[in-house]
Amino acid sequence: MPTPPDILAPLNPNSPFTEVLYRRRAVRAYKADVIEEHRLKKLLDAAVHAPTARHQEPWQFVVVQNRELLKRISDRAKELARANAAHHGNVLKPPGSPVDGVTSPLADPDFNIFYDAGTLVVICARLTPEFFSPDSWPAHSFVVADCWLAAENLMLAACADSLGTCCIGFAVQALNDPNIKAELGMPAAVEAFAPVIVGVPSGVTAPVPRKPPDVLRWIR
Ligand SMILES: Cc1cc2nc3c(=O)[nH]c(=O)nc-3n(C[C@H](O)[C@H](O)[C@H](O)COP(=O)(O)O)c2cc1C
Repeated sequence: MPTPPDILAPLNPNSPFTEVLYRRRAVRAYKADVIEEHRLKKLLDAAVHAPTARHQEPWQFVVVQNRELLKRISDRAKELARANAAHHGNVLKPPGSPVDGVTSPLADPDFNIFYDAGTLVVICARLTPEFFSPDSWPAHSFVVADCWLAAENLMLAACADSLGTCCIGFAVQALNDPNIKAELGMPAAVEAFAPVIVGVPSGVTAPVPRKPPDVLRWIR
């Protein structure tokens, strides 16, 4: 397990939670195994135990385990990104890389934005009219926050169950494409916010180092 930074020394290094917290990685290579429904339901239950603003519990879930549909969503995401390459190229490439549509994975017809994971959990929420009123700020951003908090719960629970996960922010635009939403059975008023792939990792993912916490000020 990677060593937590000193500032976190008070966290109990022997607790199972600390072990999972520091072991979770964005996994980008998966075995072909299909995750069983009973395991996924446990992950969804962990997700809905996330904190939720105004106790709204706004989240809804779409689980996709159909590989043809996953490929169609991946292809649509790449298509949308190519139309907007300057922005999306940066999502997929390390900082400083050229965005040229030729060397980018976007140009590779075999590149699957879901890394061949067999399961995608889309965390979405219904945007009710109150979220559109000028008085509703920051209700909309709280709904988005709730969905990502649920995603983190899901990812940590998956890690504790020896499963790999990765947020796929790159899929959000495609998932909100009207044709894809129709295929997913998502009503127009429901918006996809937090897509997370789940699968059995095919190897070990190296930890990605973190900068130490940038504590701007500590006021006592
Ligand atoms: C909101 C969000 C969107 C992300 N979108 C993608 C994505 O589209 N594709 C991808 O490969 N990784 C994506 N990631 C994963 C990050 O690249 C990864 O979490 C980060 O590099 C740190 O690595 P770690 O999770 O292993 O610590 C996303 C992460 C977050 C939080």
